[in-house]
Amino acid sequence: MLSEKKDLLGIKELTAGEISEILDLAGEMKRVVLSNDKKLDTLKGLSVVTLFYENSTRTRLSFELASKYMSAASANIAASGSSVQKGESLLDTGHTIDRMGTDIIIMRHQSSGAASFLAKNVRAGVINAGDGMNEHPTQALLDALTIKEHKGGFKGLRVAIIGDVLHSRVARSNLYLLNKMGASVAMAGPATLMPKGVEALGCEAYTDVDKAIAGADVIINLRIQLERQKSALFPTVREYSARFGLNENRLALAAPDALVMHPGPVNRGVEMNSAVIDCEQSFIDEQVTNGVSVRMAVLDLLTRRKRNAAH
Ligand code: CP
Repeated sequence: MLSEKKDLLGIKELTAGEISEILDLAGEMKRVVLSNDKKLDTLKGLSVVTLFYENSTRTRLSFELASKYMSAASANIAASGSSVQKGESLLDTGHTIDRMGTDIIIMRHQSSGAASFLAKNVRAGVINAGDGMNEHPTQALLDALTIKEHKGGFKGLRVAIIGDVLHSRVARSNLYLLNKMGASVAMAGPATLMPKGVEALGCEAYTDVDKAIAGADVIINLRIQLERQKSALFPTVREYSARFGLNENRLALAAPDALVMHPGPVNRGVEMNSAVIDCEQSFIDEQVTNGVSVRMAVLDLLTRRKRNAAH
């Protein structure tokens, strides 16, 4: 159970039971998020620090709000405005935050494995808010909560994950989660943006998006991650949009009640056109709301051992 662990580093390390534990609690937390009384005492007396080496709106803000809704003392550090700019190492920065009595460090970093490295070197619990091209576990959990709420579960669902699979930690975490929960996954994108041998991780792989979308119950579109591309991996944005972007014609290939999702931020007119982003089948806004609920659940579970020991 997550409540017996110190850190949340990836979906790969979670069991189906642990994923269900988080989603069930997140469902309860959502009632608090949507209420006019967003105040729990759960984290009273504990402290939470977000440490972000990469830009973020949704993940960082939702963790900050989750901490505040649960009465933690919370603070944020962006690498760009910190002593990281003076050359301080991740290890020394982590130690510094740890020695201020921090209970939970939430970190986003450009290097795969950075969260795991930090977790081994600090007393605080560590939550991975995205590490390079490896994992983004709370994104997959909020995606799962959205799917569970609208499809009732995962078994037998066909989920299409479309776009820049190569650079996407969201795709990896979602693939691990959906496999563990009994859904089948079809990945699709330009050949240059599909990792070699991705099928071995437990999915169908296509370079023809229409084949992945055909009959899908859920479509998760991925952001084109230009910041991670060392060279041009597709000819033009216009061509990408025409061959791989989600539009009304492609959406019509999916199941009639298919959910349209995207982790955000969306490049409008590239991965998806505005008609699809804003259509009735789009659950992108609900993903954002569920991000706060899921992060509240994770903070609750990861601090339970410590809170129980204090009594
Ligand atoms: N989905 C996601 O991680 O968004 P942010 O980069 O805005 O946190």
